[in-house]
Order: sequence, then structure tokens, then C-alpha cells
Amino acid sequence: MTILYFTGTGNSLAVAKRIGASCGGETAKLISIPQCIKSGDYAYSDEVIGLVFPTYCCYFPRIVREFLPKAKLAASYLFAVSTYGNGMGRGGDGGEMIEFERYASGLELKMDYCNSILMVDNFLDAFDIGREIERVPSKRIDEHIERIAADIGARRKYVKRAGVIGKALTRMCMPLVKAQDRGETCKKFSIDERCNACGTCAQVCPRGNVAVSEAPRFGRNCEGCYACVHACPRKAIHLKAEKNDLRWRNPDVSLREIVEANAR
Ligand SMILES: Cc1cc2nc3c(=O)[nH]c(=O)nc-3n(C[C@H](O)[C@H](O)[C@H](O)COP(=O)(O)O)c2cc1C
Repeated sequence: MTILYFTGTGNSLAVAKRIGASCGGETAKLISIPQCIKSGDYAYSDEVIGLVFPTYCCYFPRIVREFLPKAKLAASYLFAVSTYGNGMGRGGDGGEMIEFERYASGLELKMDYCNSILMVDNFLDAFDIGREIERVPSKRIDEHIERIAADIGARRKYVKRAGVIGKALTRMCMPLVKAQDRGETCKKFSIDERCNACGTCAQVCPRGNVAVSEAPRFGRNCEGCYACVHACPRKAIHLKAEKNDLRWRNPDVSLREIVEANAR
């Protein structure tokens, strides 16, 4: 089993690890999509190939859309799992996976299984991480990961569907996707005096969009994943709309793993 993943704050990598361990055992290969792009490795062949990534604005990330058209994936079973935080726009109700299946089929990738899983929402503009952590038990994350892993283990054929509202809201979010695609989400970020130019923000950026000398400087190729904001050891990177300075990294993923996944 080969799982190609993208993660900003670890949720998607945690899911990829769990599916890999449960369905592929020790031979499962986990490969970061930013590293595939960096190395120019686009061809993968395995009995089972999966893609795991976060939901952004009820859609899937630009970096996944950069990778897939160039990718050559040869597998007898292809799956995709997105992680989402609150179903903003009810994206988690399947709107984005319908879109993903359609997008993949336009690239002649026939997806056997497309599902999504509710995790902690790292979208700081709207969600308080403290409140999100309180909600973890009610999200039944472990149970849902196990169910998805069992589906994949059984090679189930399934595409998560959305209701009318889910589909409509996914369409309504398209202007937000287009705005994020311009690569300037980082214009929302500000740096405070706690910054000691440690460079973590640059290391976790999947786009190599942050340069650090005396302070971080952001370019115009921001993925909008918020990895830099959440990973800053001094909580020195802020969003105007944030509720407080609580930040998130999935507890099953280390900072080193995010750096290894994303450093350019
Ligand atoms: C810019 C941005 C947009 C997001 N949009 C959505 C959304 O439309 N629906 C949703 O449920 N979660 C949304 N989220 C939350 C993430 O999808 C969720 O927290 C995901 O599990 C993060 O995965 P990661 O830890 O692998 O980066 C968004 C997060 C960010 C940073």
C-alpha cells in the first residue's frame, strides 16, 4: 500500500498513518505530496494507492491539484480520504469528495473509494482550538478512522455523497477557493515581538514561501494550510480574526514529521 498525503497540522498524516498501519502493515509506504513535487517523482505503482489531504473551503488543496495532473498512479484499488474540521459549508458532508471524484475522473483516475473524516478544525479565523479540543470526544475520531480503514481493508467501493445543501455550499465556496489559489492567504498573517527568527515557519511551509532572516517574510505562493501559524514555537504568528493564541498539532504527529513532510 502506498499513501500519498498532504498535511498542515498533522490531522491528515495521522489518518494516513492509521490507515497504513491497519491495512498495509509494516510495508505501507507513506509519501508526502510536497516531497513528490520537490523531487519530481510522479509515478507510483502498488496494489493499493491512497491520497489523504485536508479540506480547504469545501474543496481540496491547490497542492493536490498541482500534483495529480502530473501523477501516474497504477493501482488495482485507488482511494482518497479528506480530513475536515466542522463541515463549514458542509464540505465534510461529501461536497468536496464528489468534486474530487469528478476531478480525478477528468484525469482518468478512477477512484474506488472517496470518504472524509471529521477532525479538529485548524481554521483559526472561525474556530477556537480550546473549544475544538473539548469537542474531540464527540467527534468520535478514532471510531471513524477505524471504520474507514476497515472499508479500505475490505476494498469497499464507495463515494461519500452530499445533500442538496452540501452541494450548494460547496459551489458557494468556490470564490474562496479561487482567492486561496492566488497564493496570498499569508497577507492575513502578522508577526509579533515574540518571534526569534527560529525558522520553524519556513521549515513547515510546503511551498517554500517563507524566508527568515531577522523575521519571517512571506512570498506570494502561500498554500493557505496555516502550518506556519500553528507550528510557531512562540505563537508569534497571528491572524486578525483569531480567538486566542491556542494552536494545534495532531498529537499523533511530531513537529519533525511535519518538517520532513513539508520542507522544500
Ligand atoms: C484555509 C482553511 C480552510 C478550511 N476549510 C474547511 C472547510 O471548508 N470545511 C471544513 O470542514 N474544514 C475546513 N478546514 C479545516 C481543515 O480541513 C481540518 O482542520 C483538517 O483536518 C486539517 O488537516 P491537517 O492537520 O492535515 O492540515 C479548513 C482549514 C484551513 C486552514
